[in-house]
Amino acid sequence: MSVLFTPIRIGPLTVPNRFVRSATHDYMADDEGYVTDANVALFSRLAEGEVGLIITGHANVQPSGKASPRQMGAYDDRFVEGLARIAAAVHRYASKTFLQIAHAGRQTKPRDCGCVPVSPSAVYDPVTKVLPRELSVEEIRALIADFIAAAGRARRAGFDGVQLHAAHGYLISSFLSPHTNRRRDEWGGPVENRARALLEILTGVKAACGRGFPVVVKLNSTDFLEGGLTLDDAIRIARMLETAGLDGIEVSGGMAEAGRGSVWPGLRSEADEGYFVANAARIKQAVGVPVFGLGGIRTLAVAERIVAEGRADLISLSRPLIRDPFLVKHFREGLTAAAACISCNKCFNPRGIRCAELPKRP
Ligand SMILES: Cc1cc2nc3c(=O)[nH]c(=O)nc-3n(C[C@H](O)[C@H](O)[C@H](O)COP(=O)(O)O)c2cc1C
Ligand code: SF4
Repeated sequence: MSVLFTPIRIGPLTVPNRFVRSATHDYMADDEGYVTDANVALFSRLAEGEVGLIITGHANVQPSGKASPRQMGAYDDRFVEGLARIAAAVHRYASKTFLQIAHAGRQTKPRDCGCVPVSPSAVYDPVTKVLPRELSVEEIRALIADFIAAAGRARRAGFDGVQLHAAHGYLISSFLSPHTNRRRDEWGGPVENRARALLEILTGVKAACGRGFPVVVKLNSTDFLEGGLTLDDAIRIARMLETAGLDGIEVSGGMAEAGRGSVWPGLRSEADEGYFVANAARIKQAVGVPVFGLGGIRTLAVAERIVAEGRADLISLSRPLIRDPFLVKHFREGLTAAAACISCNKCFNPRGIRCAELPKRP
């Protein structure tokens, strides 16, 4: 049997196979951030499609951290009831599910977050055209507390764990990056300081939710930016996180400002699938916790080699599961062809993610 269909432990949790639905903002919540029937149906299909671990799209831990319209909220107890519908829908099947909790930082617009966007330092964002406001120390403390509170809501809603979003230039990622974090206090400067907020969130969630509730991080392995986060920094951060009790690391990269984000367009040859897997392999050499590899993985044979050769322990997919939520089941039943997704990126649809290619196909 393929290693991809063997279980794996993420901390205290057993995931039934090695496939992860990488966090994917679905634009399906209502305008206030409440879960809708469309959200629940989406997660139900992914679980029926046998994805081992399903990670939600980013849910904002503070109102100011809202990145885009129709995003799920996690900043208030009133969201727990709706979130619980997602966890219950997934748990009708063997799949597990984590809530991804996040704050957009400077990568949002005043019209989306209802405020002047915030950041570790006031560094202009040429993509959002926002000059963010620097967070005070009191606000950083509140941010940490709000991440911990959001994780508690995920646990109460019945999620199996949480993923802390520390990638793609969002707020925690911008603390890690020397390009966006120019602070001279204990929250900036050396990598230990830049990682302090993330580490305090992790230890706080562990203390509040208990060791039985797994916490994983989606980590930038590079910003692709002159003066930004490097792979060497990311490896050091991964080690610090593991020491602090982290249960797993999903290795991503990129920042909109660099002109190179995390969702690379265009079909790739089999040899080039897994565009962040080389970085995942480097991080895997440095830590003992499970590592999730991702980036344009489209074929079962490539996924199999990545895990069998020890470059990653789990395989994360986003767009192929928008195209076909049943892809993992089809792989298990013998599909050897590449996923049908052609990485055109037309699924970013503010009225709800959907594959724009589907109507064209029989
Ligand atoms: C529509 C869409 C929404 C996404 N939303 C998120 C998100 O909320 N959080 C996140 O960490 N990554 C997000 N991503 C990035 C994916 O998780 C993934 O890392 C990236 O698409 C590369 O994997 P893929 O080639 O399998 O699509 C999103 C990607 C897409 C296509
Ligand atoms: S629109 Fe469809 S084919 Fe294009 S990237 Fe999205 S899921 Fe893949």
